[in-house]
Amino acid sequence: MANDARVAIIGLGYVGLPLAIAFVEAGLEVVGVDASDGRVTELRSGASPIDDITDERLRAALDHGLRIALPAEAALAEADAIFVCVPTPIDRAKDPDLRPVIAAAELILGSLRPGHVIVLQSTTFPGTTNGPFREVLERSGMRAGVEFDLAFAPERVNPGDPASAARQVPRLVGATTPAATKRVAALLRNINDSVVEVSSPDVAEFAKILENVFRNVNIALVNQLALLCERMGIDVWEVIDAAATKPFGFMRFQPGPGVGGHCIPVDPYYLAWRARQFDFVDRFVELAGDINLAMPRHVIDLVAEALNERGKAVRGARVGVLGVAFKPDVRDARNSPAADVIAGLVGRGAVITYHDPHVPAFRAADGSTFDSHPLARVLDETDAVVILTGHRAVDWEEVYATADLVVDTVNNSRGREVRPRQVLRLGAGWAVPASTA
Ligand SMILES: NC(=O)c1ccc[n+]([C@@H]2O[C@H](COP(=O)([O-])OP(=O)(O)OC[C@H]3O[C@@H](n4cnc5c(N)ncnc54)[C@H](O)[C@@H]3O)[C@@H](O)[C@H]2O)c1
Repeated sequence: MANDARVAIIGLGYVGLPLAIAFVEAGLEVVGVDASDGRVTELRSGASPIDDITDERLRAALDHGLRIALPAEAALAEADAIFVCVPTPIDRAKDPDLRPVIAAAELILGSLRPGHVIVLQSTTFPGTTNGPFREVLERSGMRAGVEFDLAFAPERVNPGDPASAARQVPRLVGATTPAATKRVAALLRNINDSVVEVSSPDVAEFAKILENVFRNVNIALVNQLALLCERMGIDVWEVIDAAATKPFGFMRFQPGPGVGGHCIPVDPYYLAWRARQFDFVDRFVELAGDINLAMPRHVIDLVAEALNERGKAVRGARVGVLGVAFKPDVRDARNSPAADVIAGLVGRGAVITYHDPHVPAFRAADGSTFDSHPLARVLDETDAVVILTGHRAVDWEEVYATADLVVDTVNNSRGREVRPRQVLRLGAGWAVPASTA
């Protein structure tokens, strides 16, 4: 498609907003649509809700033609291509919740016309684009691959890592016909230097899930090895560092308090659910999910073990949580393991405060809500702190100088000055001060 194509993006979050801005910066006319009034108002005011897009970049895009609309404003009819970037969550039973995707398809249905190009970009199970998504669109009486084109083109952005959003990162596209694949690939080449065409939406969907299952399984592997290392009295972090000196055939993954964000704790279950429809139990996916889901409980046990060292029970202990975002230096706290760690500690009778320079307010898994306190106050008013996210913006020197007891789940204490029996490390036991090592 030529670069005078008009593009509409449905869902302006971590994926849709950068996509909209990339198309505007490439000179295309773009309208972004979001179901949330709050999100629309925020974006129209030039305030970016995500770390990777600065307010200045958003405002420049608004000045250069980016329009932000509510679904009711019927902005889709004018577009030549419509990208769908809505959430794909799981429900409490960890089954796919396609309601946002179906709602987006129903929204398009009202505006669908011959020649339209529809691209689903939300991560989902293989068979979604050609299955339930297509079925809604074809209620129009028009057929995918005949009157309109239909494709899946997954997103690879890794929030907090600007390199992941670079033009050089290859992206995949698979449509219902080879001609449609070429059409969508041409459109994407406006914003990306390397577009890889695959034979169907199913392949593109499966490839995206494979990427995330790969991460989830490997994180589970090192998490399990961390538990083994604790029993064996071996430092898992040193083991991983040592293994990572191999220049081929090994890829480094880190243990931690669990997995978070919109992707890794969610997407593998889309595949597991789909596999069951083919009488196939995806044991790797289920096992990895199980191991990673259990990590917050292990962190709670580590906090109990650390308090025990000081002759304290968890009940009544004041515990400070450092970092509730699901990874360092971002404000994204969706599905963060901190939600389960805090709920579990509250359940055992601990009194929780937290500090996170990026997340001003946080809701734990039991529904209790907290506001971020200044670091000094958390350090002063608690018996122990547990580090769940190693944000660079935290004054770690102050943490280790002030805290009596630290549970370190992310290897934050490595190389720092610590006191004997001050820091209990996930996967490694009590940190040994350099002077006595
Ligand atoms: N966040 C990531 O790092 C990442 C990376 C790759 C792929 N993905 C995938 O991209 C998709 C979107 O994820 P995200 O992180 O951008 O989500 P998000 O929650 O940040 O943004 C989604 C936006 O869609 C809006 N929305 C929801 N339903 C809507 C509807 N029916 N119509 C219009 N707007 C609607 C929401 O209000 C929200 O603003 C998911 O499938 C996710 O798995 C995410």
